[in-house]
Amino acid sequence: MAILSRTGTRSIAFVLCLAWFFCQFKVGLAKGLHKVPDPSGAHPAAPLGGHQKPPGPLPAGPGAQHKTHGAARLGTIFNVLQFGARSGARQSQSQPFVRTWRAACDFNGPASVVVPPGVFTLAETVFQGPCKGPPPTSITVQIQGTLKAVGDPSEYSDKYWISVEHVNGLLITGSGTIDGSGPSVWKYDDCKGNTNCASLPSSMYFNEVQNAQIKGLRFLDSMGFHMHISNCAEFSIIGVHINAPRDSPNTDGMHISRSSKVKVLRTTIGTGDDCISIGQGAVDVTVNEVTCGPGHGISVGSLGKLPDELDVNGVTVTNCTIIGTENGIRIKTWPGSAPSKALRMLFSNIVMDNVANPIIIDQNYGSKDSKPSLVKLSDITYEDIRGTSSTPTAVSLSCSPGAACDNLMLNNINLQPKIPTMRLDATCTNAKVKYIGCQFPPPCAPHPP
Ligand SMILES: *[C@@H]1O[C@H](CO)[C@@H](O)[C@H](O)[C@H]1NC(C)=O
Repeated sequence: MAILSRTGTRSIAFVLCLAWFFCQFKVGLAKGLHKVPDPSGAHPAAPLGGHQKPPGPLPAGPGAQHKTHGAARLGTIFNVLQFGARSGARQSQSQPFVRTWRAACDFNGPASVVVPPGVFTLAETVFQGPCKGPPPTSITVQIQGTLKAVGDPSEYSDKYWISVEHVNGLLITGSGTIDGSGPSVWKYDDCKGNTNCASLPSSMYFNEVQNAQIKGLRFLDSMGFHMHISNCAEFSIIGVHINAPRDSPNTDGMHISRSSKVKVLRTTIGTGDDCISIGQGAVDVTVNEVTCGPGHGISVGSLGKLPDELDVNGVTVTNCTIIGTENGIRIKTWPGSAPSKALRMLFSNIVMDNVANPIIIDQNYGSKDSKPSLVKLSDITYEDIRGTSSTPTAVSLSCSPGAACDNLMLNNINLQPKIPTMRLDATCTNAKVKYIGCQFPPPCAPHPP
């Protein structure tokens, strides 16, 4: 196929797009690829009800032995009710939850914390490893009920509601709900117009967790981010549902930073901010079959806000559907930044449905600093991106005058206006772009020097 450099003319591009039939054919083929994630979560429910010890204090140790039949990997069960947790109580159940975790985590064998159906109020709670269970899963947490955050920001001393730290081999699963009680605290968010605001607590913060799987849970109305993954490796999120209202402040579905080999699969996210934000130090992040919206789309960044940020290297976003969001695929960096790099990204087979700014690079994000961003963007491919744009500038590649984008590639872009009378266009600044295949909108006119 022809490769047009940025100096290729709009008319050649337009002729290419007379291969309209070809584009439509591809769209047709791609329909039906996007399976609705299985709401039941990822793995068959373990036989919980009826198989648990009756409530009451139960020390860990041989007396707590209780193997399940259907799900051997649950191992010995440590039910929060046995450690004094009460469903429906208004006071925080953090202490019995931490006692349960401690017993399971220190147990020398496969062990599971089980949260049965019910509503358990929790204040700020830290679950610390390392745990003693044998690899690959040193501890399992099975959540059937609802965890409900104390809805008072003064109760939180740090940036999270629930924190899991220093665990190698973690499985959190179940059909339960992690309810951040956001509606009672969002009014305290002052991040609109204040770039140095303190963020509200994330629902689940993972710090130094390796070999983890988070499966099938439902996250609701976080105060801040729903999930924050930092300093983690080999971390998978599978079949999770995340929901907060479209006007809730800074409720990112998940924020991933300083972590490697993170996978987000078969997950639906609709919030008031980024569905997924991929921050500094993210290496080898894979996103596949994610449905995003409402919200601000899938973002790399913002990058370059702090000094000494780590590079972003290796982001793959495939087979996703983005619906009614403020951006589609966005890369955002701060002006006046220290030098860093973000490279090796592939955005492929993505359906945009009524999305504003479906493809956007914004290296002048977030402040009015007159110095350019020094975050160097390179080796970024967008392929098979199709659907509808709700704004005229469907493709906006606004790179930094201090660090031009290198090796951007657009391959088979077919974005149509949501409103038929609107004309779509593409703009490029400081961007070296190659084009392959069909291009709607037509490639940017070369930017004046
Ligand atoms: C994405 O979808 C394509 C087309 O169905 C498929 O070939 C590919 O394996 C999928 N990617 C992943 C990572 O599942």
